[in-house]
Amino acid sequence: MTKINSLRGMPDFYSDDLISWSPVENKLEKIFKSYSINEIRTPIMEYTDLFKRSVGDTSDIVNKEIYSFNDRNDQSLSLRPEGTAGVIRSIIEKKLDQQQSKLWYMGPMFRYERPQKGRYRQFHQAGVEILGYQEGQADFELISMICSIINGLDIKNAKLKINHLGDKDSKKEFSKALVEYLMPYKDKMDEKDLERLGKNPLRILDTKDLSMQEILKDAPSLNNFISDSANLLLSSIQKTFSDLCIIEIDNTLVRGLDYYTGLVFEASSTDLGAQDAFIGGGRYDNLANTLGGKDMPAIGLAIGLERIISISSITKNIEKKVVFISSTSNIAPLAFKIANQLRTANSDVSLDMDLTDSSIKAKLRRANKTNATHAFILGDEEISTNKLIVKSLRDDDEQVSMSINECIEFYKKI
Ligand code: HAM
Repeated sequence: MTKINSLRGMPDFYSDDLISWSPVENKLEKIFKSYSINEIRTPIMEYTDLFKRSVGDTSDIVNKEIYSFNDRNDQSLSLRPEGTAGVIRSIIEKKLDQQQSKLWYMGPMFRYERPQKGRYRQFHQAGVEILGYQEGQADFELISMICSIINGLDIKNAKLKINHLGDKDSKKEFSKALVEYLMPYKDKMDEKDLERLGKNPLRILDTKDLSMQEILKDAPSLNNFISDSANLLLSSIQKTFSDLCIIEIDNTLVRGLDYYTGLVFEASSTDLGAQDAFIGGGRYDNLANTLGGKDMPAIGLAIGLERIISISSITKNIEKKVVFISSTSNIAPLAFKIANQLRTANSDVSLDMDLTDSSIKAKLRRANKTNATHAFILGDEEISTNKLIVKSLRDDDEQVSMSINECIEFYKKI
């Protein structure tokens, strides 16, 4: 039989990989709670139209990267490429779009991208959406949280770029001026930028094409079109948090999703490779309305977990581990009873019961190869005296015979 492999860009995670995940996930959850944010879990699959109407059908995510299929009822469904659309869909459905909410989520997202280091087809995000607050305080709160994340997770060489996309009118005027400026360079544009010129010219500012980047150097600048209050918001955010994290105003930052309206931002670190953005987000005041809800101003962010974990220095979880060895090759019911008592006494310790039929010597040899600190040994003699040997697996190799109660007290303190 031929073997079946996993899908490209969709890795499996084993314990050794995951050991660095839980400290980061736990720390993020703590930070979210410290900002009084509540958890929400939405399905990983939604109607395709949800993403077309929110992320936008001129975006790469919907055009080229979405995993869509028809179900048995011939309805087009998609695996979520991001979390914001599902959260807003849910808020509208529960009629919560007229009140304020602060929500966080964590889970897998799916994009059919070309896999490389830091870029996967199934990846994980932690996200936050602050709903029902006009531009102003919520924007400061979210940037404050980004600084807490960068510092709390000890991320080095990080920079937060911020920009403002203006209101509807200024966005329109700027797009017009940009198209007028770019028209004479039409024959120098690649297919992707030509398509953007017609559908969503702002996205050209995001071009990866070097000659296009050169042409854009003299293009009209967004900050000449946005209002004084928008410019003030940017400079005042930069000033407020300057002692907490490095913030740079970048008028070319536009982001790859269509729903953004005001402040947008992206955090990156030079410690990551080519895929250097580990947080992205911004304000999206029209999304609820576009999805059939009431007007609901909103702002949010998403963190790429694979990326942030790879550069966080809080990722080593010190696991407390012991091994339980029983000398008899027959099943010793007492061993399972004692092990159960120990696990109940201290659930922070991982007790690895050796389930093989090998000799004590072989079992000890195996235990020494693990990162366990102690072996709890139940030999024939111990069974008759109701005692256990507790042997250190560290340098000293010390071993002590203990009654079951003494053992439990010892185990509580590991
Ligand atoms: P995004 O910028 O598309 O924004 O994604 C946020 C982060 O997810 C990126 O900065 C990156 O770290 C990570 N990421 C994206 N694609 C991949 C991939 N293929 N492999 C690994 N990591 C990836 C959003 O998704 C918006 N929903 C953020 C938001 C929330 N805006 C408002 N609220």
